[in-house]
Amino acid sequence: MTASKKPDAIALLKEDHRKVEDLFDKFERAREDRKAMLVKQICTELSIHTMIEEEIFYPSCKGQIEEDDLLEESYVEHDGAKVLIAELMDGSPDSEFYDAKVMVLSEMIKHHVKEEEKRSEGLFAQARDAGLDMEALAERLMARKEELMQEFAASLPPPQTRSFTGHKLVQSEPVEAKPVD
Ligand SMILES: [Fe+2]
Repeated sequence: MTASKKPDAIALLKEDHRKVEDLFDKFERAREDRKAMLVKQICTELSIHTMIEEEIFYPSCKGQIEEDDLLEESYVEHDGAKVLIAELMDGSPDSEFYDAKVMVLSEMIKHHVKEEEKRSEGLFAQARDAGLDMEALAERLMARKEELMQEFAASLPPPQTRSFTGHKLVQSEPVEAKPVD
């Protein structure tokens, strides 16, 4: 092994995954007054992570990896998560369904992480097998991440979807408990 560790795109993206998993764990144990701050951190981390994957990592994988379908699923998964991110950014810990939205977002991210990190057939394994230049990619990912961190420090903009195209949702009210008779 060499003494100086070279940057590696996959290691970098995995680090993001660990960081956000840790924040979700913290949220589960958090006191009420810390929840908003943790959610802000989760939303910021995820916004930056999805953006650098979508702008840099996925396009570099396209046409190179075994299953391009995986990339399409990733865009859709990200967009699904962004709906919850937008909901959470718009709410506060005393909003109805707030904790449930955080929990469901956490489950979605767990699934996303599994799809990417799965041994031999996951997206990262396929990218590694395709022989992508992970060092060059890491440099680009890091540079963009740095830029976005600065940009989002003051306030986080609404997430941008890449696969969802102008869906129309009707906002309705929660249904109250109603005993059968
Ligand atoms: Fe990821």
